[in-house]
Amino acid sequence: MTKEIIVFRYGHRIVRDYRVTSHCSLVARAFGASRIIVAGEEDKSMKKSVEEIVENWGGKFKVEFIDDWKKELGSLKDKGYYLVHLTMYGEQIHKSEEEIRKNEKVCLIIGSQKVDADIYKLAHKNVSVTTQPHSEIAALSVSMDRIFAGNEFDKKFLGGKKEIIPQKQGKKVIPLK
Ligand SMILES: C[S@@+](CC[C@H](N)C(=O)[O-])C[C@H]1O[C@@H](n2cnc3c(N)ncnc32)[C@H](O)[C@@H]1O
Repeated sequence: MTKEIIVFRYGHRIVRDYRVTSHCSLVARAFGASRIIVAGEEDKSMKKSVEEIVENWGGKFKVEFIDDWKKELGSLKDKGYYLVHLTMYGEQIHKSEEEIRKNEKVCLIIGSQKVDADIYKLAHKNVSVTTQPHSEIAALSVSMDRIFAGNEFDKKFLGGKKEIIPQKQGKKVIPLK
């Protein structure tokens, strides 16, 4: 059963990708990933905005920037991560989720611009969420939900400053510190 998911974002250009990489990070965190590794331009402002969310809402999610994507993916493989590349050309998620879940540690690779062809070979599995083009944010959220099989909805985010108490109507947020 999968215990840990990390996300590998291939490509980040400052300004242009700020919003989407931030959203990928927030989805990764909210759906239970422990970290996102971004192969691209180091973006301190994007990292800080995600860290502020972690400070306020809890958990231990980390954002890392790296230069050499091939070396990093090789090293993740050596550390026992099962590499799943999300691409519309891959095998379908609903037919792959069972096999993916057999791995304790999973790394979900998402692109921004076109990914290097070697990623298709380096990955243990290439997986699609529908066979239509859409977005890394959507592909990530659906895949994480499939792999964690809905258990992510009960995840506790410890150490934050506030917590939402779900309401039928209106908003209830309680301070924790
Ligand atoms: C907006 S797409 C850009 C794709 C890029 N223009 C290309 O030609 O490869 C960015 C990323 O979203 C993800 N993605 C988009 N559609 C997907 C799908 N149907 N299934 C899985 N992942 C998808 C992939 O990780 C892709 O690299």
